[in-house]
Amino acid sequence: MVDQRVRLPDMRTDVAQVLITEEQIRDKVAELGGQITSDYAATSVTLVSVLKGSLPFMADLMRAIQIPVTIDLMEVSSYGGATTETSGLVRILKDLSSSIAGKDVLIVEDIIDTGLTLNYLLRYLRGKNPRSLRICALLDKPARRLVEIPIDYRGFQIPDEFVVGYGLDFGEYYRNLPFIGVLRRELYETT
Ligand code: IMP
Repeated sequence: MVDQRVRLPDMRTDVAQVLITEEQIRDKVAELGGQITSDYAATSVTLVSVLKGSLPFMADLMRAIQIPVTIDLMEVSSYGGATTETSGLVRILKDLSSSIAGKDVLIVEDIIDTGLTLNYLLRYLRGKNPRSLRICALLDKPARRLVEIPIDYRGFQIPDEFVVGYGLDFGEYYRNLPFIGVLRRELYETT
């Protein structure tokens, strides 16, 4: 019996505006995959994805890369529950499975907002002595940046809006939307 007091998101109508369409995402992933393929052509690359938000991006990007890759997954938490503000606290929920020492590593991230999460991850991963460490971010939201992050591969720069879809969530929902959309403000703004 479904508890009617719990309102599940009405995914499409909760989106105020589609910011990036499925087709735009597909084209951009192909473009990024092509750049990564030529930049790492002489070697191979280890893709380190940051769960859960980067899951669809990672799955699509790795198939757009034409050279040998290995992958690893980390999970970190920066936001607690259904909130849109970063806490600045980063917790590692799942660490790397294999050593990255001496490897060319590319971090695959869904979105860079304040930059606090990646700033922490960069320091953490540098400490594991990879041969090189670069960043590929699908979305860059520079308006709220608190620490400078060197983004080597950038998908889209977006305005200061809270977005969901293609892996990005609000309170763990909306990740399965195939496009990236702006969440209606009244759903997260308190009066
Ligand atoms: P940062 O540490 O502020 O750069 O935040 C990075 C993380 O915050 C991302 O990996 C997302 O999980 C989350 N985040 C930041 N902005 C958004 C957004 O607009 N929608 C959904 N999640 C977001």
